[in-house]
Amino acid sequence: MNAPLKGLAMQAPSYVKNAKLIAWVADMAALCKPANIHWCDGSTEEYDRLCQLMVDAGTFKKLNPAKRPNSFLATSDPSDVARVEDRTFICSANKEDAGPTNNWMAPAEMRATLQPLFDGCMAGRTMYVVPFSMGPLGSPIAHIGIELSDSPYVAVNMKIMTRMGKAVYDVLGVNGEFVPCVHTVGAPLEAGQKDVAWPCNKTKYIVHYPETREIWSYGSGYGGNALLGKKCFALRIASNMGRDEGWLAEHMLILGVTNPQGKKYHVAAAFPSACGKTNFAMLIPPAGFDGWKVTTIGDDIAWIKPGADGKLHAINPEAGYFGVAPGTNMQTNPNCMASLDRDVIFTNVALTDDGDVWWEGMGDAPAHAIDWQGKDWTPAIARETGAKAAHPNARFTVAATNNPALDDAWDDPKGVAIDAFIFGGRRSTTVPLVTEARNWVEGVYMAATMGSETTAAAAGQQGVVRRDPFAMLPFAGYNMSDYFQHWLDLGKKLEAAGAKVPKIYTTNWFRKGADGKFVWPGYGENMRVLKWMIDRIEGQGNGNDHVFGVSPRYEDLNWTGLDFSAEQFNTVTSIDKAAWQAELKLHTELFEQLAHHLPKELPATKAAIEQRLRA
Ligand code: OXD
Ligand code: MN
Repeated sequence: MNAPLKGLAMQAPSYVKNAKLIAWVADMAALCKPANIHWCDGSTEEYDRLCQLMVDAGTFKKLNPAKRPNSFLATSDPSDVARVEDRTFICSANKEDAGPTNNWMAPAEMRATLQPLFDGCMAGRTMYVVPFSMGPLGSPIAHIGIELSDSPYVAVNMKIMTRMGKAVYDVLGVNGEFVPCVHTVGAPLEAGQKDVAWPCNKTKYIVHYPETREIWSYGSGYGGNALLGKKCFALRIASNMGRDEGWLAEHMLILGVTNPQGKKYHVAAAFPSACGKTNFAMLIPPAGFDGWKVTTIGDDIAWIKPGADGKLHAINPEAGYFGVAPGTNMQTNPNCMASLDRDVIFTNVALTDDGDVWWEGMGDAPAHAIDWQGKDWTPAIARETGAKAAHPNARFTVAATNNPALDDAWDDPKGVAIDAFIFGGRRSTTVPLVTEARNWVEGVYMAATMGSETTAAAAGQQGVVRRDPFAMLPFAGYNMSDYFQHWLDLGKKLEAAGAKVPKIYTTNWFRKGADGKFVWPGYGENMRVLKWMIDRIEGQGNGNDHVFGVSPRYEDLNWTGLDFSAEQFNTVTSIDKAAWQAELKLHTELFEQLAHHLPKELPATKAAIEQRLRA
């Protein structure tokens, strides 16, 4: 794996003209001391070559081309399977600017900590110079990053997840700006030392310097820890850029929804990690919704800028999906399954005996498979030991262009104009199926106080309710209260410009009944809720005005094709006063934690809700 690739050079290729970039790569090479430097051009030939290199090194298994053409399986070190939130730092000059929800260390102290770790960290390895654009190349909403990484797994994933390659240098030009991202698995090789299939280090640091817009990542090869365009750049650093420049970087899918008359709307929705953003973005309308169409612009991140027309324009900065495999099947997400037919990198799913992949919730279990840790797996072993064939945070990496529901405008440099925002937590109790905020401030309040049960997307305990404001708790790159203020300011600006401000909704697809089972069928059936939102945007949908917003009554939704009783509807929509009083205490705790710079509108909104609850 560490043998030099043909054509490697310490010098930049002639098409790289940016002096700052060339000098930075030289500096980083001097620090990390790789054996080689490879300037990625993003070509298919390069992708194929790197995949083959990883097959030869044992990092990748090539899947059976008759079953899954041009696809690979990687299985990670068992200690490197998810984002590491407790090792993620926002190193702003002042601690208050990182805020109480982020880990912080003074920049000088962090630099002194990282310096010895990065010194020689790439020894015996190749440093890949990965140029990428977050967003359509040259779009006024897009930005460029360069990731230096000693992981070929990162290089090939970045080719799928971003617009990666030579063309980025044309946009960058001689003087263009880029976000420098340095990544190492933290496993230097001594001369002659044999490599392992998934090198990593038990010490991990995922570090952001917001003022200088730098990212440094040490010790992990997995997902958002290593593919630095995603959470590190497109959310943590970009949220800082957005605050300074008047735009938003959000943990949101973007979808288009077209009604039978051909009128199209765009919705951006923030759900916490592993709470169904990919499923919602690829939704297929159910029976009773003839002529309705949902198309995907993005499944995880949205960059949203106010346009000259007074509307909010959104792009998907990514070019692929790094989605959670377990639970994905032909019922929950047929478009996703079709996307995964070919050209996929799977990570931590199981390998079947016929060279294909399998995960829990995909469909009939194979009689035998090799699980994500390389052990024999059978349904009987699973019953006896509880062993999972796939890790619960197993992922697929696939290009957006594989998605049969891809929106025609997904790559439009202008983006799409947003009509509504949705914020949806995972809550077994308390929070109703859907609520419309009566105004922007109420919507910001709902988003700011959102709670959700934790999932396997991050290392740590699963299933505990934590506050996850705007689904951005692990991703806001600056003080959360300042982030709330930024949203409030944007709303005021849009209102002052006389624009039609997007409506704001909260959803909860995850309420459970007394038997502990989900009551709402979810997936494609979420179209029923989406249609109610569209009706409301058109000033047509009816609803019940209650203590914290407006929710549909049973008769306000279209039930054609679904057997869902008024009683079941009541289970997913009821508002229990005592539960809400307890919930509001948790909002109080959140506001106490976020007291520094907390916008006064938020406690004022809370007081109004409390008063209505008491009435
Ligand atoms: C993701 C996440 O990978 O949110 O998208 O963890
Ligand atoms: Mn995400």
